[in-house]
Amino acid sequence: MAAPRTLAFLALFGVSSSRSSECSYNGLLNHLNLTNPDRILQIRRPVKDWTSATLVQLDMVMFGILDTNEKSQTVTSHNWIEMQWTNEFLTWNSSDFCGIDTLSFPRSMVWIPDINIQEDASDGGSAQMDPVVIIRPSGLTSTTARQRLTFTCQFRLFMFPFDKQHCNITFSSMSADARSIVLGSVKNGTTITRISEQVMITQGEWQLNSMQIVKENMTDGQLITSKLTYMVTLERKPLLYVIILIVPLFYLLILDLASFFICEAGGEKLGFKVTILLSISVLLLILKDILPSTENGLPLIAMYCISVFTMVWLSVLEAMLISLLLHLEDSLGKKAQGSADTPADIQLEAKSQKEPPGVEEKGRFEAGKRCFPLDRPCDRDLLQLILDDVRASRQLAASQAKDQRKPGCYSKLAKVIDSVFFVCYFLTVLVFLFYMCISWI
Ligand SMILES: *[C@@H]1O[C@H](CO)[C@@H](O)[C@H](O)[C@H]1NC(C)=O
Ligand SMILES: *[C@@H]1O[C@H](CO)[C@@H](O)[C@H](O)[C@H]1NC(C)=O
Ligand SMILES: *[C@@H]1O[C@H](CO)[C@@H](O)[C@H](O)[C@H]1NC(C)=O
Repeated sequence: MAAPRTLAFLALFGVSSSRSSECSYNGLLNHLNLTNPDRILQIRRPVKDWTSATLVQLDMVMFGILDTNEKSQTVTSHNWIEMQWTNEFLTWNSSDFCGIDTLSFPRSMVWIPDINIQEDASDGGSAQMDPVVIIRPSGLTSTTARQRLTFTCQFRLFMFPFDKQHCNITFSSMSADARSIVLGSVKNGTTITRISEQVMITQGEWQLNSMQIVKENMTDGQLITSKLTYMVTLERKPLLYVIILIVPLFYLLILDLASFFICEAGGEKLGFKVTILLSISVLLLILKDILPSTENGLPLIAMYCISVFTMVWLSVLEAMLISLLLHLEDSLGKKAQGSADTPADIQLEAKSQKEPPGVEEKGRFEAGKRCFPLDRPCDRDLLQLILDDVRASRQLAASQAKDQRKPGCYSKLAKVIDSVFFVCYFLTVLVFLFYMCISWI
């Protein structure tokens, strides 16, 4: 009688104790042999048959593009990386344990694949690993990391600032080959791009165009390693550079064209052109801070700047030539005047000595005739004065006409050079701007 009762009691106790152990994490941890830490779990790849490879799946979402540095050819981004793989030793049946379907414990307790990023150029403290790993009944283990990732990217700046950059972020295992670790991803490129676009907060001057995922095996002699490449395409928003570089240079070029219409006197034209040249060199300094000093494939913008600079430089030289010619003309003209002055004066004096007697006599006679009845002898002097004035102004007009009739050969040359240069310059500017437009758009 006592035996069955004891049995029943024991059975009841057993059931209740087994239920209590199943519903707590301890039972599960005991079942998984994690209570007395097994170093084996940490050091071996968690597969039962060593010839089967572990599939490590990596998903990377980009939260932001914080900075790009064209000079050092790096991009700094803010990423979130989820990594998951299967641990064949840590499995349980969740119905045996009150339906526990996730378990988390410190990452130091289990094996974690040593995946790194080849293009990574960040300093050590920039990655923040999740301190725990999460495991599911099937043995699927996952861990996440948030990283301020600075990765190298070979910028192709030919089309700057209307450029698109293709950067690779390549994941691979540092030590394991493709027989033990194979990389893959859960989500495809389109999904990753969509998620990234949704969560992206900062992207500065860049627009995330697409992220594609490429899986491949790299062979290096005997060693075959599995690689997972995220091909990220970024597109620059060019507005800032259009405002600070392209448009000002264009305006300066137009100003230089317009300066051909400034009148030559006073050397203002030359001064103005030199000022334009100085402004362009300031813009060149800005450009110097942006572009890397690479010799292969000069970017179009550098060509644009240097062409504008050269054209304005040529037009400054031309203005100097013109002003030199005009100066020569001036000094020659003065000399000619200086040498021609004496005969003219002599002639004038001879004339005034020759002519006046007749005129004076006539004038005196006429004046006397007229003056007599009026009885005002002062009129004679007045008439004499007027006559002198008329004579002087006639001589002045004659000498001016002589000057206009005979412009020196230097000023003629200067005029011809100026017009020919202006036409050539204008055509060159037109062709150049047209070429720039074609190449950029
Ligand atoms: C836990 O360890 C025992 C013996 O130490 C072993 O029989 C059992 O299979 C291990 N359990 C797991 C899940 O590895
Ligand atoms: C990025 O990776 C892909 C695939 O491996 C390769 O074809 C491409 O040339 C790489 N691009 C750069 C810029 O390295
Ligand atoms: C790379 O090699 C592994 C093992 O040889 C293989 O399982 C995997 O399918 C290969 N991956 C590609 C992309 O060829």
